[in-house]
Amino acid sequence: MSFLPNSRDASAFIPFGYAIRSVDLEDPYRRQAILTDCTAVTPEFEAKWDAICNADGKLCFKGLDRLAAFAQANALDFHGHTLCWHGAIPTRFRDAEPAQFRLAAASYLSNAVGRYRGTVASWHVVNEPLHLADGRPDGLRRTPYLEAFGANYIDDIFFLAAASDPQAILVINEMGLEYDSPAAEKKRQAMLGLLKGAIGRGAPIDCIGLQSHLVAKDYRAANHDAFANWLGRVGQLGVDVMITELDIDDRGLEMDEEKREGNVAGIYRDYVSLVRENARLRSVTVWGISDDCSWLNQQLGLEPAQPLIRDHQLRLKPAWFELNDLLSFGQGAQVRQASLS
Ligand code: G3I
Repeated sequence: MSFLPNSRDASAFIPFGYAIRSVDLEDPYRRQAILTDCTAVTPEFEAKWDAICNADGKLCFKGLDRLAAFAQANALDFHGHTLCWHGAIPTRFRDAEPAQFRLAAASYLSNAVGRYRGTVASWHVVNEPLHLADGRPDGLRRTPYLEAFGANYIDDIFFLAAASDPQAILVINEMGLEYDSPAAEKKRQAMLGLLKGAIGRGAPIDCIGLQSHLVAKDYRAANHDAFANWLGRVGQLGVDVMITELDIDDRGLEMDEEKREGNVAGIYRDYVSLVRENARLRSVTVWGISDDCSWLNQQLGLEPAQPLIRDHQLRLKPAWFELNDLLSFGQGAQVRQASLS
């Protein structure tokens, strides 16, 4: 049973979830937070090629199997993240000859997608394909995928994913499309061009994933009209939207904790509302269960960030209440639980 809405109705229930790790399932409090809040989950890193490919090149799905089984046992939508990303190429294939790379990348993809056929709601098929600084007219990032599969590699990868699981919703996932800057606007236009070309050639791209790693101190000062207009043009192509990695970096907000948390909570509400009002929003994922596990706090020596909606002790923050008021995800989780009885 998938909760992914099929209607454009803005009041339609929108599945909500967290990026999770199999280690989270060993902690009863973290498990409970997932089951209380979520109707969907996304593996934060355990579906990636570099996490599945062993040093000897064999594929090991142990961690991902555990997460998929948990999702299925608890009627949670399972979003696979991510099949094709320059940031998750196993060391042994980073300098491989193009033909060898192509075979290995296609083998991982078809094995992973085929293994979870029927249990995955969506796959983030290609992640972060654009990098305008690489200087290509199409804005594509220069990666081993581009070199091995050619300029239309995104089409090929999506066709491969669709052949392995015709039911999964297929997502192209990108960062930095949400911002108010000339660089973000150029990236949005490049993404539109990519979508038009690929869809024009028949590539099965259903959704665009907005990573949505936002920065609080910039958000309030920004003008979001260009982003909102762009969302409308994406919808005119028949492409839906998912918010796939939402977090709000609160560092640099010079204010006391209560004001800071209120500021961040308001941005959570405003941002999700903006996307929902301008696109067919299929799901919302916050990139982690609690502040202490955020990727923003993985690099030692930096000022700690509080970017998520539960704090380091899993306590509900103002952002949790704002999002729950907007998305009713607490009630959604109850519906999901009831579907199990
Ligand atoms: O949990 C294992 C631990 O058991 C092991 O000892 C340790 C050393 O290998 O690794 C730990 O796993 C790490 C995992 O994060 C959990 O902390 C992985 O090495 C590490 O690679 C992984 O980093 C993830 C990163 O992507 C690279 O895959 C981050 O959690 C994750 O938040 C980050 O997410 C990315 C999205 O996929 C794409 N968009 C940007 C986003 C942030 O960088």
